[in-house]
Amino acid sequence: MLSERMRHLTPYTAGEQPRDRSYIKLNTNENPYPPTGKVARFLKRIDPDMLRLYPDPNMTRLRQVIAEREGLAPENVFAGNGSDEVLSFCFYAFFDSVRFPQLTYSFYPVYCDFYGISKTTVPMKPDLGIDLEAMVSRERQDPVIVANPNSPTGMYLEKAEIEKFLHRYNQESIVIVDEAYIDFGGETCAGLINTHKNLVVVRTLSKSHSLAGARLGYALAGKPLIDALFVVKDSFNSYPVDTLAQEIGVRALTDCAPNRRNIEKIIATREWTAGKLAEMGWSVKPSRSNFLFCSMPGRDGFFVYSELKKRGILVRYFDKDRLRDSVRISIGTRKQMQSLLTAVQVIAREPT
Ligand SMILES: Cc1ncc(COP(=O)(O)O)c(C=O)c1O
Repeated sequence: MLSERMRHLTPYTAGEQPRDRSYIKLNTNENPYPPTGKVARFLKRIDPDMLRLYPDPNMTRLRQVIAEREGLAPENVFAGNGSDEVLSFCFYAFFDSVRFPQLTYSFYPVYCDFYGISKTTVPMKPDLGIDLEAMVSRERQDPVIVANPNSPTGMYLEKAEIEKFLHRYNQESIVIVDEAYIDFGGETCAGLINTHKNLVVVRTLSKSHSLAGARLGYALAGKPLIDALFVVKDSFNSYPVDTLAQEIGVRALTDCAPNRRNIEKIIATREWTAGKLAEMGWSVKPSRSNFLFCSMPGRDGFFVYSELKKRGILVRYFDKDRLRDSVRISIGTRKQMQSLLTAVQVIAREPT
């Protein structure tokens, strides 16, 4: 009944979305604040008639707004149904083989298997940082993808380091920088697409713009690469970004000051939470994202995950080498993080 291809598929495992009870949900890096006023006002006065027609397949207005925000031209912008879709189109369009860090976003190997792309994983530095030096293969320079900040660690590579890497790297091999978390304290590489024709920067509105449910992501690159992504899109589905999502994206991206305030609250709460956990003896990776990757002294990650879940708090545990001693905790509101810290103090007293 199933195709030969289908028998070999191993899908990505998304973070839990349980509906059995209400949880403080700190496991999938969603934004704890609602989308800003412009989005809310638009949603309150939607005319159902706008859904009668197919969406704009070129996403003209949305791409214009993204281009203005990034200081680029609309021809440098592609948008898709979440950055997951944009990334998967990039893998299809640009990679026969690819190198990426051993510990990173776990959708990358899934796309490789899905499209039959050969993958090489590059060991991390001892502190779990990305080793850019090691990303350069000696024998040939395969395309590469790095998440910056990386997931699940939240650790960040300075823009200058990426720029240096781009100068040294084969200009014919694609380099993708996945900037899903860049708004939480990093500096984007978007401007570098003008000087590096092999660079693709991928962003999402899921995290910094509170729009995980709208599914909106985008890629920034030179026109020939963007044109290639349109060819891939039009070979799957001409309209991956629906009319509502396009309209919502335009509002979200032009409501800058309130959005900035939400991001700043998240950054402040992250630093406050990291400080409190460190005071309790936890080891916490330096984060420029909306989450913390951290470990409780003397306990493994699965223990922390399960004990918190019993108490109504969801965090993410990764059953992978070098990650098992830790959990990844998304940054919620200050009140949610206070509840987390209280629960953490309680579970620290549980017998081993
Ligand atoms: C590094 C990274 N890239 C991309 C994504 C996908 O985000 P979305 O498909 O919601 O835009 C995620 C989601 O968690 C991520 O962690």
